[in-house]
Amino acid sequence: MTALSQIYEKSNIGSDLLKPLQTLVSSDLERVNAIILDRLKSPIDLIPTLARHLIAAGGKRMRPMLTLACSALVEHNSDRPIRLAAAIEFIHAATLLHDDVVDESELRRGVPTANSVWGNQASILVGDFLFSRAFELMVEDGSLDVLRILSSASSKIAEGEVMQLVSSKDVTTSQNTYLEIATYKTATLFEAACQVGAVLDGPNLENERALASFGRNLGLAFQLVDDVLDYQASSEMIGKNVGDDFKEGKITLPVILAYKKANEDEKKFWQRTLGTKQQNAKDFGQALAYLNKHRALDETLTHAQTYIHYAQESLIKFKPSPYLSALFDLCEFCLKRAF
Ligand code: IPE
Ligand code: IPE
Ligand code: MG
Ligand code: MG
Repeated sequence: MTALSQIYEKSNIGSDLLKPLQTLVSSDLERVNAIILDRLKSPIDLIPTLARHLIAAGGKRMRPMLTLACSALVEHNSDRPIRLAAAIEFIHAATLLHDDVVDESELRRGVPTANSVWGNQASILVGDFLFSRAFELMVEDGSLDVLRILSSASSKIAEGEVMQLVSSKDVTTSQNTYLEIATYKTATLFEAACQVGAVLDGPNLENERALASFGRNLGLAFQLVDDVLDYQASSEMIGKNVGDDFKEGKITLPVILAYKKANEDEKKFWQRTLGTKQQNAKDFGQALAYLNKHRALDETLTHAQTYIHYAQESLIKFKPSPYLSALFDLCEFCLKRAF
């Protein structure tokens, strides 16, 4: 049993909503996974060893599934989405390797992070390799439209991560800055994964705009929910350590909303724990209590709901099909997910 299906076994929350899409794309996704495993090969043993550790540990494969589903939605008929979906998962995996170094995370996809096993240097370098493999796959596809979308997404992800680094520990970070960071670091790749599906038969501005908007809003909601889960999920379910954002002094939307309503003592608390990262064992529990007192986690989910609504609106122009309804279910999954 894979790590992924073990997670699904443990949690039924949301998995029913992911199932329709997984079922529709399952044979294509197997081909995507086969390409990924094949392209991990390298005579430098550490590369496939480290990369396989992350990639074989599972992951929801949301972004490649989006590319497959969006290309089906526009009735594209070729093998190209399969290779491009693999390229997109490579980009995602590369960003995870780098992100876990930056965030000093120890658990990912239910297994110790590559940086905790092989160290930061190896993780960064293998992340670079995965990025490069992604670009090789895109060049093989040969479409400049695809290259334009995915190369610009890659630089935006890096910009988002750097923006976040710059504003980390700043408890006065605004909601707009947070949303910009979340858009760049996360929503961009969701957007690109969907948009690529729309350009495979040549430029079609209407489809491209609709699917880009769908992916961007879905991705933004996904990140907001992720930031809630970082406070209130179980590590077993999400396969990551809960409380990492707090430990790292990351200013996410729940904190921004609670800080807005904080009294002087609470402001001092956030400033000490996140601003200067002076934390003791009881602080995470106290942070949760303040978040709950101001309903900041609920409010974050309400924001996520709004973006999911925009995502669903972007799909209105497409005619009913199993893919369309699976994408609607995926929207609900992103809101209700527990992993
Ligand atoms: C993790 O993404 C990074 C974020 C954008 C929060 P996923 O939650 O899609 O990670 P995997 O691929 O399923 O492990
Ligand atoms: C997600 O970063 C975005 C990227 C990986 C580029 P986070 O740091 O918020 O996500 P997790 O919690 O590590 O998955
Ligand atoms: Mg992280
Ligand atoms: Mg991060």
